[in-house]
Amino acid sequence: MATPNGKRANSFIRFENITKTFREGDQERVVLQGVNAEIARGEFVAIVGRSGSGKSTLLNLLAGLDTPTRGDIFIGDLNIAKLNDNDRTLFRRKHIGFVFQFFNLIPTLTVRENILMTAELAGWKESDAHAQANRLLDAVGLRERVNVFPDKLSGGEQQRVAIARALCADAELILADEPTGNLDAETGAHILKLLTTLAREKNKTLVMVTHSSEIAEQADRVLRMEDGKLTRPETGGLETGERRLETGD
Ligand SMILES: Nc1ncnc2c1ncn2[C@@H]1O[C@H](COP(=O)(O)OP(=O)(O)OP(=O)(O)O)[C@@H](O)[C@H]1O
Ligand SMILES: [Mg+2]
Repeated sequence: MATPNGKRANSFIRFENITKTFREGDQERVVLQGVNAEIARGEFVAIVGRSGSGKSTLLNLLAGLDTPTRGDIFIGDLNIAKLNDNDRTLFRRKHIGFVFQFFNLIPTLTVRENILMTAELAGWKESDAHAQANRLLDAVGLRERVNVFPDKLSGGEQQRVAIARALCADAELILADEPTGNLDAETGAHILKLLTTLAREKNKTLVMVTHSSEIAEQADRVLRMEDGKLTRPETGGLETGERRLETGD
């Protein structure tokens, strides 16, 4: 249902004609070329597509970690593409939990400190932040490793810290870039359940990049990145063919 300004009634995120160009020397590489999509509050959307198709680039733009070359990104009523760096950072700290494809843990902080960081940056009271961090350490099975530094952790353990960190500030929008890519099947299934249960129970919006067809199956909707555009953005449900995703690149 469209409102007078063209926005769908239940739309929470809206990409409008997003273009992203990277400059490499005197060459320009167009990575995103006219991305349009809407995501509803509380929706779990999986983004799939070939390696190098622009999935992480789009997620970074949605997280406010980078700005589009052209186009608008609305989260609620706010156009984050038009915010200055400082306001974008403040917005991100309060509203977005991000699981990076390559973790990006802070090497000089312990496991606990890495996880606490997001709650602290979002302005949580220290005792609340610690209680929340402890809950998440249990949920991702890392209570024994709280005082260890990231370089002593396996890839899967680092990924679990990255997931706990993304959830610690209780952000309404969770963005996850291949969050189970480095985990064994059982741990991956456990972590996915943690993310999806939390999203459903607390009506959080979850946008997840994945190469896994099993994960995409569980999403409310799958968007495919192809030639710098998201396809099937507005159809709601999936067509039968889309459910049988190929995982290979
Ligand atoms: N900062 C940058 N400068 C130049 N090119 C970049 C930059 N970031 C990304 N690219 C290019 O943009 C394209 C898309 O990259 P992106 O990381 O978004 O792909 P992806 O879909 O996430 O791939 P993967 O599945 O391998 O993670 C790639 O060709 C990449 O080389
Ligand atoms: Mg990527």
